[in-house]
Amino acid sequence: MEQAILYGPFKELVTMHALPLHGALKDEELPIIKNGGIVVEGSEIIAIGDYEVLSETYKAAYCLLNEEENLVAVPAFVDCHTHICWAGDRTNDYALRVAGKSYLEIAKAGGGIMDTVIETRKASQSELVEIILNHADTLLDQGIATVEVKSGYGLEIESELKMLRAIKEANEHTLVDLIPTFLGAHIKPKDYDGSHEEYLTILLEEVVPVIENEKLCTRADIFVEEGAFDVELARNYAKKMQERGFDITMHVDQFNAGGARMAIEVGSVSADHLECTDSETAKLFTNSGTVAVALPGASLGLGMQFTPCRDLLDNDACVAIATDWNPGSAPMGDLITQAALLGASEKLSISETLAAITYRAAQALRIDAGVIHEGAKAKFTAFSTNDYRSIFYHQGKLKPKFTVIGDECIEH
Ligand code: NIG
Ligand code: FE
Repeated sequence: MEQAILYGPFKELVTMHALPLHGALKDEELPIIKNGGIVVEGSEIIAIGDYEVLSETYKAAYCLLNEEENLVAVPAFVDCHTHICWAGDRTNDYALRVAGKSYLEIAKAGGGIMDTVIETRKASQSELVEIILNHADTLLDQGIATVEVKSGYGLEIESELKMLRAIKEANEHTLVDLIPTFLGAHIKPKDYDGSHEEYLTILLEEVVPVIENEKLCTRADIFVEEGAFDVELARNYAKKMQERGFDITMHVDQFNAGGARMAIEVGSVSADHLECTDSETAKLFTNSGTVAVALPGASLGLGMQFTPCRDLLDNDACVAIATDWNPGSAPMGDLITQAALLGASEKLSISETLAAITYRAAQALRIDAGVIHEGAKAKFTAFSTNDYRSIFYHQGKLKPKFTVIGDECIEH
């Protein structure tokens, strides 16, 4: 039998267990175990509760921590929207934007996403694996144990497949769980001469069968925007992908509204961005299974307004927050900083912000994560503090001390 490990004592153990998926949350609702402990056997949490009681019950358990230390444990974070598989650099883009050119103008002139596509096409699969692993390490240092990763910088058959294969390969070499998403429908690449509709048909007929054969992913994304794909094409594409058994997620309402309404109508698992979603559309999230994913890194990167998270939560939406880490709109890749800044601006309670990067983000991926409970795979992160609220109070400057993933404890 494997030796069980007792982690603790934690001044506060915030489990996020049995909280509502939707709507506003008050800090008083958070389940907090004071002087808590977590017992892990193999990769699984077998007990949580009062540290003293656990240390009596699990007499032989190996205890890892210093009893005097101030520590708070929370579920390891979930980053449910990233583009961390990219090659090249977009500093030039950034310089153009801060000098006054808009993101859409740069894209229209053939730059932006297309610049990254050119560099990513040139990279080998193993180069991309290295890049993904470096990014995953940076995220792990923030206490993130689950990361969604999109393709979408290949935009031709073999390059899209190369990206997805690289994500699959990288997943075998990191403790972080990487969840792949097919974003062949990011934009129509400028070197493809056919129509947008024909481009999507190629994805459906030539890329998707290989994805299915190689089991590369079960999620698909589309960018619904002026200069990318329009609402009706996206609706049609989403339905066809759903018929093939894919979960659909969409980039919608970033600069122009309309996509979010359609995303909800077709039953997307999530609708991401929503910077220009109005209050009428926010109401549609009530009773909807579509998770509203805010991407504050893109708002900060592009100098735009934040997603109206307060309004969404007050309309009973399930709201998640993700980094959108990518070389263009969101180059920061710092989840806690971004969530804290969004929370301050949108007046989110600390529990709403914490829920948005734990179990509500997991809901956007339709996985069981972001909660500490018995029977779950061990995934939690600990900060040197005695008050969980200080994680966001320090706006990303308080880093986790260690993160447990399965039977590994990673010190940061
Ligand atoms: O989520 N808006 C579309 N796609 C990404 C940005 C991609 C890029 O600029 O490279 C986003 O913001
Ligand atoms: Fe994105």
